[in-house]
Amino acid sequence: MSRLIPSRSLLLPFLCAVCCLPPVGWCADILLAPPVSRYERRAEHDPNGIGKFYMGREIAHVMGHQGADWLERPEREQEERPDLLVPALKLRAGDAVADIGAGTGYYTRRLAKAVGTDGIVYAVEIQREMLDMLTNRLADDGIFNVRPVLGTVTDPRLSRASLDLILMVDVYHEFEHPFEMVEAMCQALKSGGRMVFVEFRAEDPNVPIKRVHKMTEAQVRKEMSVHPLEWVETIGTLPWQHVVVFRKKSS
Ligand SMILES: C[S@@+](CC[C@H](N)C(=O)[O-])C[C@H]1O[C@@H](n2cnc3c(N)ncnc32)[C@H](O)[C@@H]1O
Repeated sequence: MSRLIPSRSLLLPFLCAVCCLPPVGWCADILLAPPVSRYERRAEHDPNGIGKFYMGREIAHVMGHQGADWLERPEREQEERPDLLVPALKLRAGDAVADIGAGTGYYTRRLAKAVGTDGIVYAVEIQREMLDMLTNRLADDGIFNVRPVLGTVTDPRLSRASLDLILMVDVYHEFEHPFEMVEAMCQALKSGGRMVFVEFRAEDPNVPIKRVHKMTEAQVRKEMSVHPLEWVETIGTLPWQHVVVFRKKSS
């Protein structure tokens, strides 16, 4: 064996020769080159974005907890029609779901009712202040099947293959690391589990939301095409948002 493997100083030229690679200088260039980032930084950008781009889309600033009242505004019932959205998810009693970027829990509370006391909702947030508000409201409403989870910008901290559905309402466009977040969320889904994006429609100029806080359906589908997900349907019954549904491919 020792006769077959060259000394360390000869290892690189040896590998180049064995693998029919270009000369040693090129090999070293390839091996030492910094990895190409999947993200791009641009100096000129929308003031509501962070100047970081993914697949041509600028990532939006995270909505701070100081604006939490906006998430509980009464007009939301008419603007977003949660009474239409939640049934459209076709949840079953006993399902395990995650509400990623749960904010104050506007949708978490509705999901908790939909899955019943045998089900569970993981409410994932990166802002502890949001989770505190969410927890207080759950206690006020007597809802006990929700687990608050403090995630990070790359990791929602969910167990592998544990979830039937992951919901993100008005959240994905804020992810600072969208690729890493979706990879981690795919791992947390059961085989055949669904991942649902609810985003304000960028195709419609009449939807009164800032551009970087909206997404087109085409952009959502483009960004998901690099993950082990297949598109299932896009629900267009809400006034301002589209609901883009994917399923985890069986491995
Ligand atoms: C516009 S709010 C929407 C809140 C909630 N989904 C709703 O519709 O009421 C977006 C939330 O996503 C959270 N967020 C942003 N990036 C996140 C990430 N990587 N993981 C978890 N939460 C995130 C923010 O902290 C913020 O509270």
